[in-house]
Amino acid sequence: MASTFETVGVVGLGTMGAGIAEVFARAGIAVVGVETDPGALERGRGHLDGSTGRALSRGRLTEAERAEILGRVAFTTSLEDLSDCDLVIEAIPEVMDFKRALFTDLDRVCKPSAVLATNTSSLSVTAIAATTTRPGRVVGMHFFNPAPVMRLVEVVRTVSTEDGLAEEVAGLARRLGKTPVTVADRAGFVVNRLLLPYLNHAAALLEQGLSTRDDIDTAMRLGAGFPMGPFALLDLIGLDTSYEICEALFRESRERRHAPAPVLRELVTAGLLGRKSGRGFHGEEPPANPSAEEKPSASTVAVVGGTAANGTGAADGAAEAFAERLSAAGFKTTPVEEADLVVAVSRTPVIEQAVRLPHPARLVGLNLVGDQVAEVASTVLTSPGAAQVARGLLRILGRTSVSCRDRAGFVVGALLHPHLNDAVRMYESGYASMEDIDTAMRLGCGYPAGPFEMLDRLGLETVRDGLRALYAEYRDPSFAPAPLLDQLVTAGVRSIRDLSS
Ligand code: CAA
Repeated sequence: MASTFETVGVVGLGTMGAGIAEVFARAGIAVVGVETDPGALERGRGHLDGSTGRALSRGRLTEAERAEILGRVAFTTSLEDLSDCDLVIEAIPEVMDFKRALFTDLDRVCKPSAVLATNTSSLSVTAIAATTTRPGRVVGMHFFNPAPVMRLVEVVRTVSTEDGLAEEVAGLARRLGKTPVTVADRAGFVVNRLLLPYLNHAAALLEQGLSTRDDIDTAMRLGAGFPMGPFALLDLIGLDTSYEICEALFRESRERRHAPAPVLRELVTAGLLGRKSGRGFHGEEPPANPSAEEKPSASTVAVVGGTAANGTGAADGAAEAFAERLSAAGFKTTPVEEADLVVAVSRTPVIEQAVRLPHPARLVGLNLVGDQVAEVASTVLTSPGAAQVARGLLRILGRTSVSCRDRAGFVVGALLHPHLNDAVRMYESGYASMEDIDTAMRLGCGYPAGPFEMLDRLGLETVRDGLRALYAEYRDPSFAPAPLLDQLVTAGVRSIRDLSS
């Protein structure tokens, strides 16, 4: 039976639920918003007031439009008020027992034709559907935070979902101004299955001391072009939610990459959940002291080339180009023996080059990422002074420097290459098409390009070689290049997206 979806219920008016209610109300659909008690209901109303108030102050809504939107939302603490709804979407905490109990109640209260949807980000939609007498009319409808802004909705159909229902719900998502991607019921669906392992990996690298929270955030924003760094995004999603998603992924995959980083557990246990609790990875901290910024002292600089990621030692001209930029900025480069600072322009660790020098403490690795970021790698022998001079030099050249240890991939490669590899593995598994994966990551996470677009831009061989270097260093099976990626490079194929055309 085709559904019209004129009245929709939203159960749970936390950040996500209130955002979802706003999205429906903005599309002209009557909403019944339900919370457990009057206090929670008021907080939910406050979310809606705040969000629409912000749009008003930015001139995105008129006072009349805002009143109309808010007028479409009825607030109640009684589930019975959902009896006339054509669709009810649940956005309560990610605890299976709570969801099961709620769906049993919704099944009793809602009319038989009503669709029951869950906004779960990590639990099995099939298991939730099985608690009802209408598993055929249960789907996942997964929104992204902030719901009024992010344009993606993942529509999840289970083996029990009635034919045609996922398409109807996808049509509803379009009516809301969103782009639907329809997927089967697998832990994390498309976005969280790709996003959370990357965020978790960032947390693990922070724990390993690869770099600092702020430098990792900066590297991924300015170097990879992501709208937020991993720690800012973990704080937005909520560390408890992030932890639960990683757990759900690990339960299904048993992959080490999915096991939550210990720092996540520690922060969650301490109640530091991110934005919702006021502190997570980021929190209240003193502003940076500008006088602590590095100033380059009068130094003599030498620039040397590094080894290519494939270990062939092939020069790619990056060192020469960097030396030219230094000269253009008025710096005189000197032979290595006379230099106070030796900059080894390299995509791979530089310790081997350092130990060949008379003064290994003077060498730093340098990897230029995009046109804004410079990764400055210190080896175990690099003196703090040399790294400081290098950062000052880069500031004069207009680059934001990111300090890191001398490890495969430095920061951006170490995080981005496995993330892209995961997307190839997802495609190879047949779970989603390249177009759907690209769309999901662009619209769900605000990426400037989808993973396959990024792969083509970076070069398949560069990413494959980056993964090989990471695998050689960490021996983590999930860093081994996906067989498809390896084969495409071997076959000389330049664009992975050619496969989908
Ligand atoms: N609620 C409503 N609107 C909001 C908002 C919020 N919480 N936050 C931002 N906005 C709106 C602003 O009003 C503004 O709209 P206008 O242009 O119409 O005025 C617009 O979004 C841009 O906001 P800002 O200029 O303040 O900030 P920005 O440009 O830095 O963008 C962002 C903020 C949209 C959050 C952006 O940083 C981004 O896309 N980040 C990535 C977020 C992401 O990855 N989300 C998915 C997380 S995974 C998930 O949610 C699934 C899960 O199951 C865990």
